[in-house]
Amino acid sequence: MPLNKKNINWGILAPGHIAKKFAKDLLTIENAELYSVASRTLEKAEAFKNEYKGKVAYGSYEDLMKDPNVDAIYIANPHAFHKEYTIACLQHKKAVMCEKPLALNGEDVDLMLQTAKKENVLLMEALWTYFLPHYQFLLNFLKEGSFGKVTSMEADFGFQPVFDEKSRLFNKKLGGGSLLDIGIYPIFAALTILGKPEKIKASATFFETGADSSCKMLFEYPNNVKAELSSTLLEKTPTEAVIQCEKGTIKLHTQFHKPTKITFTDNNGNQTYKDFGVTTEGYSFETIHFNELLRENKKESPIMTHDFSRLLMQTMDKVKEQIGLQYS
Ligand SMILES: NC(=O)c1ccc[n+]([C@@H]2O[C@H](COP(=O)([O-])OP(=O)(O)OC[C@H]3O[C@@H](n4cnc5c(N)ncnc54)[C@H](OP(=O)(O)O)[C@@H]3O)[C@@H](O)[C@H]2O)c1
Repeated sequence: MPLNKKNINWGILAPGHIAKKFAKDLLTIENAELYSVASRTLEKAEAFKNEYKGKVAYGSYEDLMKDPNVDAIYIANPHAFHKEYTIACLQHKKAVMCEKPLALNGEDVDLMLQTAKKENVLLMEALWTYFLPHYQFLLNFLKEGSFGKVTSMEADFGFQPVFDEKSRLFNKKLGGGSLLDIGIYPIFAALTILGKPEKIKASATFFETGADSSCKMLFEYPNNVKAELSSTLLEKTPTEAVIQCEKGTIKLHTQFHKPTKITFTDNNGNQTYKDFGVTTEGYSFETIHFNELLRENKKESPIMTHDFSRLLMQTMDKVKEQIGLQYS
């Protein structure tokens, strides 16, 4: 494994909507490049490779995993396939950055993380928000404590895609539903800001496919601290996060999970507005971090840790239990 070489050769497995943004940002990163692209359709892989300056196109995922020149694979197919392909890539000794959610349930996440340990290969869930400058600033600000403790928070994520029972957003066999696709972001925010809740209450509505169309969650913490969270595929919502602290309020502007701005308002009404001036799509930050881990021969991110991926999915499992949602 060429772990200490400077240039990282990336492979993309399943070049769809999100893979385009990843590939666009990869072009802005030094000492890393798109080496190969694998699609179930060779022509599609060829076209993607040409558009994003890759070198090799494959018509099978297996061929990508076998390519000795590939250092890291970005897994970007629908959630339902993350487990199978992540495990296969790890067994081929490829470092893996897998899109969120890592899998459909905690058991599968455990299996993926265990495989990474067994194969001694780097695996990280691509929860890009964690690496964005505004989010890192927020976490440091809260840690530093000038606004005191967090007393409550709210975070929502909602948009209204056109209904299509075959699309990954609505098709349960592909892992469809609002919770796993976008509810993961408000949950991520609560877990990173407040930690693991003592109690979870949740309710949901469903599409005829059985996938959840919307989900409302209440996370309860000691001292009456609460997080009100929601996701919906039925309407566009502000997609903001508002954090109430003892000495002020923090607002992550729309859309809080993307590169965005933050307003800090103290209890005397003084406002500070911070813009972080991100010029990429925002996927560059997680990728640069991953590249560094790979060069340093690390097997786990100290930010998006395996334990955090486990907690994130276990929390979603608890929500699923409350709303009666299961993926087979
Ligand atoms: N981080 C973010 O901001 C973000 C944003 C959007 C999505 N995501 C995550 O990225 C993943 C992919 O989302 P996407 O919107 O990019 O999906 P997508 O465009 O619908 O599909 C991505 C690729 O997956 C393969 N695929 C699609 N439908 C399939 C099916 N029915 N059976 C087998 N393979 C199929 C196709 O690859 P082939 O070319 O091989 O056919 C397709 O190009 C999801 O897990 C999602 O949660 C993350």
